[in-house]
Amino acid sequence: MLRTHTCGELRISDVNKEVTLTGWVQRLRDKGSLLWVDLRDRYGITQLFLEEGKTDPALLQAARSAGREYVLKAKGTVVERLSKNDKMPTGDVEIRVTSIEVLNTSKTPPFTIEDNTDGGDDLRMKYRYLDLRRNVVRESLQLRHKMAQQTRIYLDSLNFIEVETPVLIKSTPEGARDFVVPSRMNPGEFYALPQSPQTFKQLLMVSGFDRYYQIVKCFRDEDLRADRQPEFTQIDCEMAFITQEDILYTFEGLVRHLFKNVKGIDMPSVPHMSYDDAMKYYGSDKPDTRFEMKFVELNDITQGKGFQVFDSAELVVGICAKGCAEYTRKQLDELTEYVKKPQIGAKGLVYVQCKADGTFKSSVDKFYSADDLKTWAEKFNAQPGDLIFVLSGDADKTRKALNELRLKMGDALGLRDKNKFAALWVIDFPLLEWSEDTNRWHAMHHPFTSPKPEDMKLLESDPGKVRANAYDMVINGTEVGGGSIRIHDRATQQLMFSKLGFSDEEAKKQFGFLMEAFEYGAPPHGGIAFGFDRLCSLFGGADSIRDFIAFPKNNAGRDVMIDTPSTISQEQLTELNILVKEIKK
Ligand code: AMO
Repeated sequence: MLRTHTCGELRISDVNKEVTLTGWVQRLRDKGSLLWVDLRDRYGITQLFLEEGKTDPALLQAARSAGREYVLKAKGTVVERLSKNDKMPTGDVEIRVTSIEVLNTSKTPPFTIEDNTDGGDDLRMKYRYLDLRRNVVRESLQLRHKMAQQTRIYLDSLNFIEVETPVLIKSTPEGARDFVVPSRMNPGEFYALPQSPQTFKQLLMVSGFDRYYQIVKCFRDEDLRADRQPEFTQIDCEMAFITQEDILYTFEGLVRHLFKNVKGIDMPSVPHMSYDDAMKYYGSDKPDTRFEMKFVELNDITQGKGFQVFDSAELVVGICAKGCAEYTRKQLDELTEYVKKPQIGAKGLVYVQCKADGTFKSSVDKFYSADDLKTWAEKFNAQPGDLIFVLSGDADKTRKALNELRLKMGDALGLRDKNKFAALWVIDFPLLEWSEDTNRWHAMHHPFTSPKPEDMKLLESDPGKVRANAYDMVINGTEVGGGSIRIHDRATQQLMFSKLGFSDEEAKKQFGFLMEAFEYGAPPHGGIAFGFDRLCSLFGGADSIRDFIAFPKNNAGRDVMIDTPSTISQEQLTELNILVKEIKK
């Protein structure tokens, strides 16, 4: 090794030791006769010290010539500092330099390598290798490493084995769009990159592997958001000879193990909530349960009083914001404007202020008496000082809008603390959802999910009512994982494909291998996949998954550092039998 110690490890107990450190110049302070250099590596910062008269002038010269991010090797003696810095673990000591060598020079970096950098997003992405030198980003990746290690420890202890599945697979029409790869050896044919290893892990169950996992890259060509990347990582798992309860128990165990061993948090057992209740009480299939503010439906007490808006609504529903009765007109107008934004889509916002003196003031006083409003308040269990918001209209749209308002109020009231964690299993999802775009039923999870046996009879008469053996894990309003008990017999799988609008021929072409495998003794099985990047960003208290991925793509799906996607040469195209139309940019 070129060094004897790292830049993060020397303490007062090391005084008088002769050491050699290597690292990058974080900062240089030149006070004329005295010179300090902060030397940084992955482990921390150590201060180097040179003094005119005591240090060889050539060394002073070498140190003075070193700019930010130069790579140095410095030898010296550990001494106690006169003015200590209790903010740094190495702050009690400095190195009195006896030799210095510039291992490499550096151009001035385009942004400062500090926790609060002056670099904007685009610049940091272009120079991601410099961004990764910053503590915050490096720590995010260290957290990710720890999460992966602990995941392996937990799953290994339960006899799961890690199996790699192929990355060049077959394109299938379900789910998101595939990324495809042309095959040179098979002109006109394409592989697809896996959106998940779903069918392979099921085949491993048929093979008798019994407990599988893989920390695996998945690829989806979909519109990007803060919590979505085109290539992302799953903790993908599958088990045979289990019930849904076994899966929920095993994988809430994984999440609790991670909280305990990565964050030192004892997480209580994870409550279950049906999809129907999640929608009814929170207007979302991924409710943030760090706070209550549950929906209360008011149709029965608000309709028939002459207020046309409520009378004509399919649903009248509200929430109660504790202690907000004194919101000003301006605040209420802002919230009204917020719910009326096209992305939220409400027509208006009704409010009732429960005044401290026990009276009520509402935006619909014309239609509702004080007694009426008192009845509303009782429904919400509202206290003097609380503020009730009510939305109305089409049931699904109104619930969605109220969910947004609930989250906004949660933020406003400081109820969404990033250091607090509330996990939840959402269970009993519908098997199918109707798509107006394609005019057919789609699998809500994926086509391999088994219907609840007791609902099978509804598959013909009322497909939308059939529930699936499917579950999501939600933490703080983020879907961190999802899975299901699978279909494991050919007849049911074939029936499912036909309900999804596949002809027998299409089903056979796309998934014939799986259905055939089911005929060779497929065990009952099920599984789950966690979004590993999402889990890491949640543990790290971040909104975006980007900083938990070493080299992420931007929102246009580009890697601006290596500048890709990019064109390829005509020779490559010819070899791949691909004709590219000229694209005007
Ligand atoms: P699903 O599609 O629900 O299930 O994906 C599992 C989890 O992966 C995460 N995730 C993503 N994370 C980042 N970027 C993305 N683009 C992205 N898409 C999904 C989410 C999600 O909960 N094969 C099934 C699992 C199973 O049934 O076992 C599957 O892939 O956190």
